[in-house]
Amino acid sequence: MPSASSTQDAQRQHELVVVANRLPVDSRTLPDGATEWVTSPGGLVTAMESVMRTVDSGAWVGWGGTAGEAPEPFEADGMSLYPVRLDQEDVERYYEGFSNATLWPLYHDVIVDPEFHRTWWDSYLSANRRFAEAAAPVAAPGGTIWVHDYQLQLVPQMIRAKRSDVRIGFFNHIPFPSVELFSQLPKRNSILRGLLGADLLGFQRESDSLNFVSAVRRLLGYHVEGMTIFVPGLGASPVREVQVQTFPISIDSAAVSALTEDPQIRERAAQLRRDLGDPAKIVLGVDRLDYTKGIRHRLKAWGELLDDGLIDPHDAVMIQVATPSRERVEAYRQLRDEVELTVGRINGEHAPIGRPAVSYQHHSFDRRDMTAMFMAADVVLVTALRDGMNLVAKEYVASRPDLHGVLVLSEFAGAADELRAAVMVNPHDIDELKAAILRSLAMPAEEQEEAMRSLRHQVMEHDVQTWAHNFLQQLEESGDPEPAVTPTIHLTGETPSEAGEVETALTAFAEVPRLLIASDFDGVIAPIVSDRDAVQPDAAALTALRELSELPGVAVALVSGRALADLDSHTRMPSSVVLVGSHGAEVGALPPWMQAEVLDQSSLTMTEQKEELLASITATLRRIARAHPGTEVETKPTAAVLHTRNAKGRGSINATESALEYAMTLPDVTVTPGKEVVEFAVVPTSKGAAVDTLARASAADAWLYLGDDVTDESVFAQLGDRDLGLKVGGGDTAARLRIADTEAVRGVLQRLLELRGQRR
Ligand code: ADP
Ligand code: G6P
Repeated sequence: MPSASSTQDAQRQHELVVVANRLPVDSRTLPDGATEWVTSPGGLVTAMESVMRTVDSGAWVGWGGTAGEAPEPFEADGMSLYPVRLDQEDVERYYEGFSNATLWPLYHDVIVDPEFHRTWWDSYLSANRRFAEAAAPVAAPGGTIWVHDYQLQLVPQMIRAKRSDVRIGFFNHIPFPSVELFSQLPKRNSILRGLLGADLLGFQRESDSLNFVSAVRRLLGYHVEGMTIFVPGLGASPVREVQVQTFPISIDSAAVSALTEDPQIRERAAQLRRDLGDPAKIVLGVDRLDYTKGIRHRLKAWGELLDDGLIDPHDAVMIQVATPSRERVEAYRQLRDEVELTVGRINGEHAPIGRPAVSYQHHSFDRRDMTAMFMAADVVLVTALRDGMNLVAKEYVASRPDLHGVLVLSEFAGAADELRAAVMVNPHDIDELKAAILRSLAMPAEEQEEAMRSLRHQVMEHDVQTWAHNFLQQLEESGDPEPAVTPTIHLTGETPSEAGEVETALTAFAEVPRLLIASDFDGVIAPIVSDRDAVQPDAAALTALRELSELPGVAVALVSGRALADLDSHTRMPSSVVLVGSHGAEVGALPPWMQAEVLDQSSLTMTEQKEELLASITATLRRIARAHPGTEVETKPTAAVLHTRNAKGRGSINATESALEYAMTLPDVTVTPGKEVVEFAVVPTSKGAAVDTLARASAADAWLYLGDDVTDESVFAQLGDRDLGLKVGGGDTAARLRIADTEAVRGVLQRLLELRGQRR
């Protein structure tokens, strides 16, 4: 069990951040209320834990295995662990539901029927977001984030949206299904797009990599060359290259092999044989109790061999170690019942007095006990019906430096690609499986040695350290990440700036010869109300703006997310106040002295070319809408919007897909997918760009901006030395001053009017 200690300074940044559903340790609450940490189950943790032990200052972001509050970040075995909270509902819907009752069976060739529920998907989405939010801040600038496995397929894209400066890798520990099976998955394209947020995607087998690439080609229609996928950028963003490569995972082979030298472990192996009544042969199966592992098939074969009298239970004993797994998922419950029933039946019919025909262990063992079992086993049965890799097969080989023992290996386990010298079986064919068991039990020592030598060569040469090194090196070589664009936050919290500080800034600003005074509308000039149409702007603030606009050397603008006509009807400003609507995409009537300059700024205004582009976009979207009844197209002066909320059946998804596919052909268009809506804007829609253009058009020496919303940060982000940004209300901001509310806004505008008026 790893030693864990909580740490004050765990929240720092790391060169390598691993993100997986589970932390390497699971928390358990002891009867006295204290927390105990035990190693988590499964191959992912076995492999990555040993990799992370060799990394300096690595971090691991994951779930601690218990629903509810997550513990604070802590250090364990030289690694910083960042627990992610999953509530009971997340556990049921994201983990047991979408991950383990939808994706797991689907990706393992539908051995059991995958179930799908829309609430599970919603939870998968929000849980993935939580992992991404936990991982993004802990990576150092230019660092590497390595996301693992099917539970977190949306995380690469989510991290990319937050951290374009880091390298993002993704490794899938389980198979990736054929495109025919994958196509059954609702939300399949979102999953593909989520994964394609990575720079490098790793899979266990060549067939998994090929399946993924053909799913991308077939379902997203992206251009593919060999194993490179060209991901088109939305709007004006450039195409990104994503590499797909096969990296068969492995184990810490030398460490496992070294354990076999330990006299205590050797003694345990000998003791184990004595405890079982000194049988001539021990046959071993070690698995999580999972329907993919073929435990039922194995027991059936063993039971039939005993029934047929081909195996004498006095000579041969089977040990089945079955780690409890996902016990609240129905298919796992059923499996456990069946396995336990079958073991009971076999023992009832065949076990000699005082010892079992099948020794069934439904719990975890520590690594040393596990090695002792492998050392005692004459045959190990790996009969998976489908398995990403299967590390048990490799652990058995690493545990046999004595070159004794036989590995029976399913051709459906990833390990079958590498461990060619094993006795290969198709576990679905019970007769073949029975024959393979008999052959293994009877295999002469020299034949065992020959096979084991070849297997060991493979496993000892290709260990998990080499695997991780190859993956990370390839990731290093793929696509250069962009430098971090972290906006500077000048103020946090809620507290307004000192009145004196605001007064000093206003006084200095009023002295500047040519000014632009611009303000957001909702939340600044008018208090926020729930019914947008019932908005009540502050009459005195509007008056101050109007009067300011009449002063020489002062330009005034209102910049809003509202449509221009809407803004106009609520403010009724004279033409000396410029109105800018739709986040900067619509500009109202301009004073004559500004016009020429703004019209030159083709980014802000419609040109003939943009009109044509918009007409053609509108026509295409209407065609898409006609093909998907219930969807409709809204036209705005500078944008066309496809609304899919009222579409029938899969219409919403299909229409959105078609629209996004089309978007990729439009490099100069800003495409913003929203909830059941996709907006295509032919002019850039940032308030920052609008204020920038207005400042230039009014030849302002400095500008002042008042804003309350995140969209206003695009303006504050470009504040120059003489400019003045005033954030209204609480929240992080790049503005240097904060004022409380609309009333304070009125105060600022009236004070400016006074100061500037005095200057005349
Ligand atoms: P999966 O990842 O699907 O669980 P693998 O065979 O790849 O399958 O990895 C399983 C890992 O869990 C191996 O490292 C194996 O030794 C370990 N393991 C399996 N059963 C037990 C158990 N009862 N006690 C301890 N470790 C176990
Ligand atoms: C497999 C999966 C892992 C998972 C492990 C244990 O190895 O690839 O992602 O962690 O099984 O399953 P659990 O659901 O208990 O995490």
